[in-house]
Amino acid sequence: MSVHEIEVTINGKKYQEQVESRMLLSDFLREKCGLTGTHVGCEHGVCGACTIHLNGSAVRSCLIFAVQVDGQEITTVEGLTKDGELTPLQRNFIECHGLQCGFCTPGILMSAADYLQKHPHPTLQEIKEMLSGHLCRCTGYEGIIKAIQKTIDESNHHYEAERR
Ligand code: FES
Ligand code: FES
Repeated sequence: MSVHEIEVTINGKKYQEQVESRMLLSDFLREKCGLTGTHVGCEHGVCGACTIHLNGSAVRSCLIFAVQVDGQEITTVEGLTKDGELTPLQRNFIECHGLQCGFCTPGILMSAADYLQKHPHPTLQEIKEMLSGHLCRCTGYEGIIKAIQKTIDESNHHYEAERR
């Protein structure tokens, strides 16, 4: 079995580790780095639970081998906070009961954070389409949608207040 040494920056910290070529990035994050906020559901790229940011874009870590991220930058849900403070999106997930049982929450947060960064004014339909990449047994998605809409509303108010 071939083993490779990789160096990767995760949540601003450098990790240098030996990995087997077949090790998935999701397993690398959880087992080698102890970052268990990244959850693993299907391991087939279907459920979205393992979503992280790779070089600033949301990707499914169960579809990538750890060796492929050598020299790259990753953010996991543990790195989503800014200066130790929850982001508005995270706070609104709590306030709007979007956390549900918590299994899918990290992946959904990572997808939504990336999506809102690139599409700051999505319609309800667009939010639903983005969420369709996440399969969740708690069902409903209502609280999650409310949390995302509240985050968009707050950032619109903030933007308008700054323009006045
Ligand atoms: S565990 Fe990666 S998409 Fe389901
Ligand atoms: S948050 Fe509970 S199964 Fe998805």
